[in-house]
Amino acid sequence: MKSNNILQEAKQAIEQAQSQSVLEELRVKYLGRKGIVAEFFAQLTKLKGDERARQGQELNALKHEITRALEQRENAMQTLALEKLAEAEALDVTLPGARLPYGHLHITTQAIEEISRIFAQLGFQRMRYPEIDWDYYAFESLNMPKGHPARDEWETFFIAGSQQTLTRPNGHPLPEREGRVRAAEHPKLGRMVLTPHTSNGQVREMERRRPPIRMINIAKCYRRQSDVTHAPMFHQFEGLLIDRNVSVTHLKGTLDYFARAYYGKDRRTRLRPFHFRFTEPSFEIDISCGICGGTGEIHGERCKVCKSGWHELGGAGMVHPNVLKAGGIDPKEYSGFACGWGIERMLMMKLKLSDIRAFYIADLNFLEQF
Ligand code: DAH
Repeated sequence: MKSNNILQEAKQAIEQAQSQSVLEELRVKYLGRKGIVAEFFAQLTKLKGDERARQGQELNALKHEITRALEQRENAMQTLALEKLAEAEALDVTLPGARLPYGHLHITTQAIEEISRIFAQLGFQRMRYPEIDWDYYAFESLNMPKGHPARDEWETFFIAGSQQTLTRPNGHPLPEREGRVRAAEHPKLGRMVLTPHTSNGQVREMERRRPPIRMINIAKCYRRQSDVTHAPMFHQFEGLLIDRNVSVTHLKGTLDYFARAYYGKDRRTRLRPFHFRFTEPSFEIDISCGICGGTGEIHGERCKVCKSGWHELGGAGMVHPNVLKAGGIDPKEYSGFACGWGIERMLMMKLKLSDIRAFYIADLNFLEQF
């Protein structure tokens, strides 16, 4: 009978169907109200008795088989669709995650940490002293009496005074503390300044504790100046050591140790006589050039980098007795040395940079190199 062929044909078509809509078409074609199976059923009326019953059973079986084939195909298609979806949206939680861009400390901060580490090896403790301070700590206690013209060398920013009483949001006046309330001027400590150097930490440290003192103060400094080697805000570093019988030898040894640790084993320092009000004797510290090794010459020609064999690093000297006295320390019993120089200047020398502004413009192309 035909129904066998029909079943084969239907099964094949169903098996090959690639979409729900094709399946639906097939369902209509075979099982629909006017479909092939329905037509066979209609023809049953022409038959009689047993034959009709037998063919009726066969047709029911055919209908059943086709229904099952449709169901199976539909299930298979759904499973396949789910598998595809699973594949497309697969999340393997065991895979390494996407890394966020990883930043690093600013090159100036790196230098500050490195300098602190080197001095810590010699027992120097890092301190933080104000970056807005009284004239007294920035100048007067450093052997520059009120009105002394040596102040002029520092291009200092003074804080403008105000006669206004500062109040809290609720209208109550702030407590009358140093500089909080009135003019930025104190009867004894003078005006307030943006510290032009870190030397303000010297007498503050002496006031804080008795010798032996070994401290470094690294802080921001401010001066009214701006060009390729000067910025209105920059960083300085100040070393201070006070103990019994401290001499220039200790200063020289400390500087050499630092130069080797920071710049490299073959570097040396040299002291040149100079003048600072707060040290006596005073020196400028030079460091031997890393290119020509301090000779000033390469193959008989003048070194283009240093031109003399040496680079100027900063100032230093033996703490002036008046500074010790200002800090309440007896200069007959104790002596000490101090040194100070700019962090950016050191970095520029180490990295051979010519423009100080690179440190402040937050240019990632520059910063990511370090
Ligand atoms: N404070 C000086 C400046 O900014 C540098 C300096 C010189 C610091 C000599 C010192 C020192 O501690 O002893 O120009």
